[in-house]
Amino acid sequence: MGEAARRTGGTGEQAPRRSLPAAQGGPPLLRRLPVFDRSGRFSPLKTAAFLLLAAPALALAWQGARAGFGPRPWIYLNHETGRWAVRFLLVTLALTPLQRLFRAPRLTLIRRQAGLAAAFYTFAHVFCYVADEAYAWGFIAREILLRFYLTLGFAATLMLALLAATSTDGWLARLGRGWRRLHRLVYPALILALWHFLLSLKADAGEALVCSGFAFWLLFWRLLPRARELHPLSLLGLSLASALFTAGLEALWYASVTRFAWLLVLAANLDPFRYGLRPAGWVLLAGLALVALITARSSERWGALRPLL
Ligand code: HEM
Repeated sequence: MGEAARRTGGTGEQAPRRSLPAAQGGPPLLRRLPVFDRSGRFSPLKTAAFLLLAAPALALAWQGARAGFGPRPWIYLNHETGRWAVRFLLVTLALTPLQRLFRAPRLTLIRRQAGLAAAFYTFAHVFCYVADEAYAWGFIAREILLRFYLTLGFAATLMLALLAATSTDGWLARLGRGWRRLHRLVYPALILALWHFLLSLKADAGEALVCSGFAFWLLFWRLLPRARELHPLSLLGLSLASALFTAGLEALWYASVTRFAWLLVLAANLDPFRYGLRPAGWVLLAGLALVALITARSSERWGALRPLL
């Protein structure tokens, strides 16, 4: 997804290097392997990303071969793959801010890989559900229509399938400027996937809430004016807003799903020593760590925080 955005000039990065002729850069088929860059050269970054993105699938295969997946293997795999799909969707969206904040343009090289990995784990997730329902297509279609959380998941899956199918260079060339507009579908897809995640849970929504807080940060960071997107104070404000959003969402989730008193849930955020760090606390910590890293990395930016210290 990301390399294409560079080509269309959306991120203001350098244009990609022209591909070498086949004789110099190796056969074109080889260039398609996820360990080579566009010019056909071996890329340690893409190789490391590929291995990291494949690691959960390999770990699951290893676990299956050694110990199995318990009494309901398809359900177990459905849960695992669903969580990895959401995590990799977040990673995909995190690469642009990380690339800008740490001035690491090469990170865009792995954005398409991360997006495709998210789509891959999504398809595996849906396949596990279908297998668990013994391929009863009529029943599955009715469930998707009648159960709201499945309808949400289905809509997100359609969007991710469209994004994965059009992520190739061929589609990028064919769609031109429309490609970037189409690929903005990743934002509603993420929101629907998180909503589906939250509604599918009956207890312990911790990870879904932390992911929602990160998603809030990633989506609203994109709305910051270009001149403010690297500013520590903007990032500090965004981190606080993300934590508040997460705390509110947690209260809402407990009130609607478990009927637990939402005020008590909100109050638990204020006493981390008694109740442990709530999801909002983790989101805030991550945001603050990022602000600290950014400010430490470029000392001139300390000036922006000085009035507060
Ligand atoms: C046709 C589309 C989809 C179907 C039929 C589907 C089905 C399901 C089912 C049956 C569950 C388990 C509910 C339970 O245990 O009671 C679930 C949970 C989940 N789904 Fe989906 N899903 C779909 C799309 C998606 C998408 C697009 C994502 C993310 C990108 C996703 C992520 C998750 C996550 C994170 C969970 C929670 C797993 C856990 O409890 O550990 N799903 N889904």
